[in-house]
Amino acid sequence: MTVRDRLVVVGAGAVGSAIAWAAARERVAGEVVLVDPDPGSGASRVAGGMLAPISEAWPGEREVLELGAASLARWPAFAEAVAQDAGRPVGLRREGTVQVALDAADVADLDRVAEHLRAWGREVERLSGRAVRRLEPALGPAVRAGLAVPDDLAVDNRALLAALSDAGRARGVVVERRRVERVVDDGVRVTGVELDDGVLEADRVVVAAGAWSAALHPVLAERVRPVKGEILRVRARRTSLPPPSRTVRAAVSGRPVYAVPRDGGRLVVGATQYEAGFDPDVLVGGVRDLVADVERVLPGIADYALEETAASFRPGTDDNLPLLGAVGPAGLVAATGHGRNGMLLVAVTVDAVAAVLRGEALPDEARPAAADRSAAARP
Ligand code: GLY
Repeated sequence: MTVRDRLVVVGAGAVGSAIAWAAARERVAGEVVLVDPDPGSGASRVAGGMLAPISEAWPGEREVLELGAASLARWPAFAEAVAQDAGRPVGLRREGTVQVALDAADVADLDRVAEHLRAWGREVERLSGRAVRRLEPALGPAVRAGLAVPDDLAVDNRALLAALSDAGRARGVVVERRRVERVVDDGVRVTGVELDDGVLEADRVVVAAGAWSAALHPVLAERVRPVKGEILRVRARRTSLPPPSRTVRAAVSGRPVYAVPRDGGRLVVGATQYEAGFDPDVLVGGVRDLVADVERVLPGIADYALEETAASFRPGTDDNLPLLGAVGPAGLVAATGHGRNGMLLVAVTVDAVAAVLRGEALPDEARPAAADRSAAARP
């Protein structure tokens, strides 16, 4: 017999964990079960953690950008609510971002980004190479120009995952360390999720399994694909030049690179991007490119300790918008396909999915990302 009003959330990355926490906090279900064989081990663990809607959107992706901006506006309140329930901070960093340019083409890109930012009413300051180096002395002599973007924030992804786990526990979320094979339905509504040894019955199921979501139900098949990314985690040593205090972004030989500060003199350097299926290996060539590119921007990094290399899979969609809300059989809700922007979009996703779980329509700002948008409506 089905437990009355059980909500199963599949996937304990940042998005799934945040939805489970919010659902339990708002009591939108009698029981909230978060199912993941290894919570916090996917793309959320490998993320850079930039909360940067404009610099992460491709030019022309207005809806991606608007959704990101809506989410950034929600982030401080989201961070505070999670921290309060968790009894620990989520690692929100407010030092801002500098985007830097190394050659003439990069400078032209920088000016385009500045134009976008200003058109969006965002604070932005165009700086000479010397001025941006004054701001961040770790920047090297190859940097010719910069853009200070004080309200593009960042979050420590692992601090966020730990806080979400504690916040969910505090609100009574039940965690099942199991693999979900697929969502099951009776042709009209969902009835549960199939595990390796049977079915966990549920009245509603949220699929928040990132790049792995497409295999969980036919309505999601081919709508989410893995986009592999590799990162480095490095630490300034006692003898090293201090790391930047702001997030630093650049394009080197056309390849985007970023360094996002963490506590303890650490930086997350990312990220490669490949369409390589679920290839889990960190490639030597990927590490070589990241090291070469970041060293052009932050030359002192050669003396840092290389603490970790990691790879994971961004959940990509055809139009770079996530899939949010009801889709397919009654009771099935998608919260996946966040691409490069999972950390940024978690705040707007939580609010949108919570509204749907309360029985309301998807909020206006999330409508372009409606999971049931038709293929015809997609570019
Ligand atoms: N948002 C950073 C990345 O996907 O690499």
